Amino acid sequence: MASIKKIGVLTSGGDASGMNPTIRSVVRSALYHGLEVVAIKRGYEGLMHDDMTPMHAGSVGGIISLGGTILYSARAPEFMTEEGLKKANDNMKKHNIDALIVIGGDGTYRGALDFSNHFDYPVIGIPATIDNDIYGTDYTIGYDTAVNVAMEAIDKLRDTATSHGRCFIAEVMGRHAGYIALEVGIASGAEEILIPETPTDIENIIEILKTGRERGKRSSIIVVAEGDEIGGGVEACKLIEGKTGFETRLTILGHMQRGGSPTARERLWAARFGFIAIRALLDGKKNVAIGTWKGEYSYTPLADAIKKDPKIDEIDLEIQKALSI
Ligand code: F6P
Repeated sequence: MASIKKIGVLTSGGDASGMNPTIRSVVRSALYHGLEVVAIKRGYEGLMHDDMTPMHAGSVGGIISLGGTILYSARAPEFMTEEGLKKANDNMKKHNIDALIVIGGDGTYRGALDFSNHFDYPVIGIPATIDNDIYGTDYTIGYDTAVNVAMEAIDKLRDTATSHGRCFIAEVMGRHAGYIALEVGIASGAEEILIPETPTDIENIIEILKTGRERGKRSSIIVVAEGDEIGGGVEACKLIEGKTGFETRLTILGHMQRGGSPTARERLWAARFGFIAIRALLDGKKNVAIGTWKGEYSYTPLADAIKKDPKIDEIDLEIQKALSI
């Protein structure tokens, strides 16, 4: 492989808190290793439409605590076309970019894979999505902040739920995955958690809620993953209110889970992933997604990283059940 002198970095897909410290780490780790860096704005949009700017150490100063992404993000359907890929390749050549670091989730990885299959650039993926649904890594950037944002919101819901003796449904994001719901459910002491990875037995949930009330529980919190097969928070709310007769309210936490200042855990993984991604490139790795897997850094082929992710921990499900009696 020809030696790498200049890299491009971009953020793509749904933004996630922690993208900024990740950009900072990529840029400064690259400079530290003697590489030049170009930032590509608006993800693959900027790669196709030549929206790029050279980066130096000061370009990423003061962003470690900022949510969002200073490079902006976009979902770019045009990048899935031959023409879009060709435009991107022309711009890579125009700016003498030898390799790419892409920060994002499975859609970002799909784009990267397609690009590297057409044109032979080394690409390294850094997992960043609040959904935590990337295969081959225990952790994705954005997940911890999303869980903390949701936990703080649910703590507030519990206050009002207890005052009024109500049942609250909190719908959290996650697309087709239930990781946010599971972790925030445990962290906020939810009575029930509905996630797409496990079948939702509504009759059983109703029984548990009623038994709780008979024992003197004043209120209940049910965390529902947006992708749960029951139909998300709206359907869960209708069913639970209808079948229990409890006064029930729905709060959809939505995009607020994507924002906010990154947590300490987020910033730490951002620093690590950015550095490891640059090291991976310089070690000759290509078309892999970096990550952390069972205490070690992992390097998963991009083609595998976009597979469905089966990492829901059975013991967490049981812990939630045990502690919510
Ligand atoms: O993948 C991140 C995510 O926030 C999902 O949890 C959610 O389903 C989706 O993106 C929302 O997408 P959009 O921002 O396009 O509405």
